[in-house]
Amino acid sequence: MKNIRDLIRPNIANILPYPPGKPIEDVKRELGVKEVIKMASNENALGPSPKAVKAMKDALAGVNLYPDGNSYYLKQKLAEKLGVAMEEIIVGNGTDEVIRIITETFLNPGEEVVVAWPGFVIYSIATNVMSGSLKRTPLKNYTHDLEAMLNAVTDKTKLVFIANPNNPTGTMVDKDEVEMFMKKIPEDIIVVFDEAYYEYANGNFPQTIRYAKEGKNTIVLRTFSKIYGLAGLRVGYGIAQKEMVTEMNRIRQPFNVNRVAQSAAIAALDDKEHVEKSIVMNEEGKKYLYKEFDAMGLEYVRTSANFILVDIKRSGKEIYEKLLKEGVIVRPVDNYDLPNFLRVTICKPSENKKFIGSLKKVLGK
Ligand SMILES: Cc1ncc(COP(=O)(O)O)c(C=O)c1O
Repeated sequence: MKNIRDLIRPNIANILPYPPGKPIEDVKRELGVKEVIKMASNENALGPSPKAVKAMKDALAGVNLYPDGNSYYLKQKLAEKLGVAMEEIIVGNGTDEVIRIITETFLNPGEEVVVAWPGFVIYSIATNVMSGSLKRTPLKNYTHDLEAMLNAVTDKTKLVFIANPNNPTGTMVDKDEVEMFMKKIPEDIIVVFDEAYYEYANGNFPQTIRYAKEGKNTIVLRTFSKIYGLAGLRVGYGIAQKEMVTEMNRIRQPFNVNRVAQSAAIAALDDKEHVEKSIVMNEEGKKYLYKEFDAMGLEYVRTSANFILVDIKRSGKEIYEKLLKEGVIVRPVDNYDLPNFLRVTICKPSENKKFIGSLKKVLGK
């Protein structure tokens, strides 16, 4: 009988599965820890909006029916909020799915995809699935080096992914840098601005949706998983020219976003108060964690998102394991070639405090 490894496509054989943050349930079960907090996956520690919870409950009675495959009312609401047409929006089962739809629609085998590294791993997986060729450009000061990304472009390049703010560093590229990049990038290349943490960023943040309006081949990605607190439902979306969305819809699963998720996302968009509260919590948590890291003599990367990359100057994996025993789940980032760092999500004040107490204990500070 043939070995399974000989049956699979060679480009799949080399893909490392995406390592998700460790679930709370696993830590409780495996380590017997009763109280566990998760600061590993950049979720919103405030939880979902109460309005979204009510909408989900109301939607439950209808789950015998398939969802609206076109996510009509969600797109209508997003279109109104963003000042775009409904036909310029594609809704996905998380932005993760939209990323896969993008590579499946546009990437031919051997075509190049330019990404920054350390950067979001899903771009690599999506590229490899399509037998694309990944070109990684190093970050500069933990930030996308757009000049280097431009230099990495060849006549084989099809796609460029720019996570703004970046994961796992939390850094952003500003309006002027992006403007320069868009002026120089050849116009047949598709530029994806992944703005999963958009709502947390401030300062001179680029308004990227307008590029598609100007006829550029850009796709802007946003999500309900972060500030909207709906990561467990899986809803994300992309904004691009209508013609691009039409092509991507050819391969989108017909019912990719479930009924409960669509209802919750619509309601979440109406809850401005919840978003506002989440921003305030994040800003205060950021200040607290910076102050504590400073006091401990730890260096960190200043963030434009809801997580902080901190340099602990010893094995991140080891400290991560020790923190698990304290009931704190953070993210080791050795798989991003950052072996001496941890990525920690900014959570509620009590959780941030518990994390700092546990970190001091395991670092012997
Ligand atoms: C940069 C970036 N893009 C996309 C995603 C995925 O978001 P979603 O939950 O919408 O699939 C994440 C999640 O961590 C992310 O960090």
